[in-house]
Amino acid sequence: MDITFLLNGESVELRDVSATRTLLDWLREDRALTGTKEGCNEGDCGACTVMVTDADGSKALNACILFLPQLHGKSVRTVEGIAAPDGALHPVQQAMIDLHGSQCGFCTPGFIMSMAVAHKNGDRDHDTALAGNLCRCTGYAPIVRAAEAAANQPVPAWMQDDAVATNAAPAGDTTGVAAPETVAELAALYAANPDATLVAGATDVGLWVTKQMRDLGQVIFLNRCRDLQQIDESDDALRFGAGVTMDRVLAALAPLYPSYAEMVRRFASAQVRAAATIGGNIANGSPIGDNPPPLIALGATLHLRCGDTTRDLPIEDFFLDYGKQDRAKGEFVEAISVPKTPDRLRVYKLSKRFDQDISAVCGAFNITVEDGTVSAARIAFGGMAGIPKRASHVEAAIIGKPWTEATLAAAADAWAMDFTPLSDMRASAEYRLTTARNMLRRYWLEDQGQIVDVKAVPA
Ligand SMILES: Cc1cc2nc3c(=O)[nH]c(=O)nc-3n(C[C@H](O)[C@H](O)[C@H](O)COP(=O)(O)OP(=O)(O)OC[C@H]3O[C@@H](n4cnc5c(N)ncnc54)[C@H](O)[C@@H]3O)c2cc1C
Ligand code: FES
Ligand code: FES
Repeated sequence: MDITFLLNGESVELRDVSATRTLLDWLREDRALTGTKEGCNEGDCGACTVMVTDADGSKALNACILFLPQLHGKSVRTVEGIAAPDGALHPVQQAMIDLHGSQCGFCTPGFIMSMAVAHKNGDRDHDTALAGNLCRCTGYAPIVRAAEAAANQPVPAWMQDDAVATNAAPAGDTTGVAAPETVAELAALYAANPDATLVAGATDVGLWVTKQMRDLGQVIFLNRCRDLQQIDESDDALRFGAGVTMDRVLAALAPLYPSYAEMVRRFASAQVRAAATIGGNIANGSPIGDNPPPLIALGATLHLRCGDTTRDLPIEDFFLDYGKQDRAKGEFVEAISVPKTPDRLRVYKLSKRFDQDISAVCGAFNITVEDGTVSAARIAFGGMAGIPKRASHVEAAIIGKPWTEATLAAAADAWAMDFTPLSDMRASAEYRLTTARNMLRRYWLEDQGQIVDVKAVPA
């Protein structure tokens, strides 16, 4: 594929780009821009963070899991491109020097880029913005102080001139790489090439390449389908196109389902949320994907498409078995509709690290109580089985019963009927069952008006 983008303000045109050449490798090996570091090469550490600007604004992204074709028409800034043309430092660079934000310096370019993006966007939630950047020697306090100090400085003029390189579609499809512009084009192309690999945000697929050295064969990038990125709101539902990124999911859900939005705030990091799509998180069929449990608890509907044929199904029916989903060859996730209901949803994500970590267990609870009796319950979990799964026996054990601790205790045996979790590096089977049970109790306590501070240190 032939692509065009801006690199530190200058136009770059590349011919016959491989689908899986990462921006990080290209920057370091082809352009000798070695300021952008390789730490983990899997989206975890933020050492490779760059700024990517398009019509939707500027985002911090991990260059190690960003494929070159995803950049067509965009503008990229690396740590080499944020000081002024006359050498004057960017305010975040100066603040990091003044406030001693760097020691060995390996993480520093990544921090600088996350800080520069937050600075440009006026984002003052520094803890959240920097959760995807790991530092193992300076510590976060001086870095956050630097971010706070820089926030009072204006955005330098040279940071505001990033234009979109081109709106034209990328040229050429001689290398088995395609980037359709509309859902209809995507549907026709995928139906005709059902063995192609779909790439949305590449936050899963990127690791297949960088860690598993997999050959993806023919690749279809979804990121140019603007109609796959729509969020449509009606009286009854929010409909997310499969290509909506998790940062936008967070913003759209916050007013309706704040507990779901708070879980999404802990989904990976700012860099990953800016790339990862809701469609990719469902389609990958992961048993520990964080969206399926709340979507199942809310009774969301999945919209699938193959060619011109579309079908809808309750999202819980999509997950058939470990690694197996109800998706035909050439069929893809087009959208997901989330019903608007009175907010009784609580989502509890349990992970080893509070921020930027994959769930050991993620529980979503949507329980309706009328006149002191449970009239409806939808409870779903990730991390408890080979697929995201409803706790049907637990639901049956509490529906029609008084909403009391005694009912929860009486439902205790139902948990083992619903789930036989695995023991793995994240948690033991016993721990998973115990915490799942405790999450229902937490929901009950919160419903009684008791705030459960999970970060409190026991006396
Ligand atoms: C550092 C890091 C932290 C992470 N933390 C979390 C976390 O906290 N919680 C969590 O749930 N996940 C996490 N993930 C996993 C990942 O970010 C999510 O699963 C993400 O939502 C995948 O979306 P994507 O757009 O990047 O998918 P991609 O990587 O592009 O694709 C994933 C899979 O879905 C397929 N696909 C994509 N879109 C479609 C579609 N529309 N129709 C059919 N198939 C499609 C692809 O072919 C591929 O098989 C993390 C990943 C990283 C690297
Ligand atoms: S190298 Fe660690 S996130 Fe890219
Ligand atoms: S300064 Fe050494 S890892 Fe951050």
